[in-house]
Amino acid sequence: MRTSSLPLLKHAQAHGYAVPAFNFHDLVDLQAILAVAEEEEAPVILMASESTIRFAGFPYIEAMARAALKDSRALFALHLDHGRELDNIVKAVRHGFTSIMFDGSYLPLAENIRLSAWVVDIAHRVGINVEGELGQIPGTEDDISVAEQEAGLTDPALVAGFVAQTQVDALAVAIGTAHGLYKGEPKLDFDRLMAIRKETSVPLVLHGGSGIPDALAQRAIELGISKLNVGTELRLAYTGSITRAVQKREINDPRPMLNIAREAVMEAVREKIRLCGASGRARAIEV
Ligand code: 13P
Repeated sequence: MRTSSLPLLKHAQAHGYAVPAFNFHDLVDLQAILAVAEEEEAPVILMASESTIRFAGFPYIEAMARAALKDSRALFALHLDHGRELDNIVKAVRHGFTSIMFDGSYLPLAENIRLSAWVVDIAHRVGINVEGELGQIPGTEDDISVAEQEAGLTDPALVAGFVAQTQVDALAVAIGTAHGLYKGEPKLDFDRLMAIRKETSVPLVLHGGSGIPDALAQRAIELGISKLNVGTELRLAYTGSITRAVQKREINDPRPMLNIAREAVMEAVREKIRLCGASGRARAIEV
């Protein structure tokens, strides 16, 4: 069943777990995510970034989500990840997305607030939830790159004002995670997370979920993270499994390769669903 993301996030917030949110790129990884979500009875958020939209196109993404409604019992939201182009945001609304992230984090604060509020206004009219971002998360997510020196952690003092002025439904916070893989062990600023948590009641989102040691991810969830975003680990599972398979034999049919990739992505998805404590939660969620 497709739903907006807010009921999922609210349930996670009330019960102390996080909704796993996965970047997908095509039919293979989309099916992998849904298959495991169904097996684990876990709510999931399927995230398409703007570069996935450029790759696959809105009509195909919309059609895949519609097919999933017929083919799968999984409870999911379809989410635009790091939406920056207003054109894409309007198209997402038209093409069956149920959740949108407007990423104005690279803009001056007043502009981030103004545009986030505009997106919220449009999205709420049609029952779509909006995630905003305050502070900037370093690293590379698809084609969005934020250098270490441009990145800035979320200032707790700005949180209540940002949420009140924009009316976002969820807030992505920068507390030391990064998009992509980490060079060493990431250092998460849990004091900052606790301070942010005190400033607002909206569900908080942690980006850069790939490569965070399990104990740190679990601590972040205990301290109030309700959505954990994971992209790179799925991409590595997908491409790594194909690379290894190709090295072993000559390929003249993509299907066995893509089956191997689907299995590899399923493994990575299962691990994250369990890490988030999301298994078995879907049946308790009313949408
Ligand atoms: P990773 O690619 O580091 O897992 O981050 C994913 C993400 O935060 C998507 O918004």
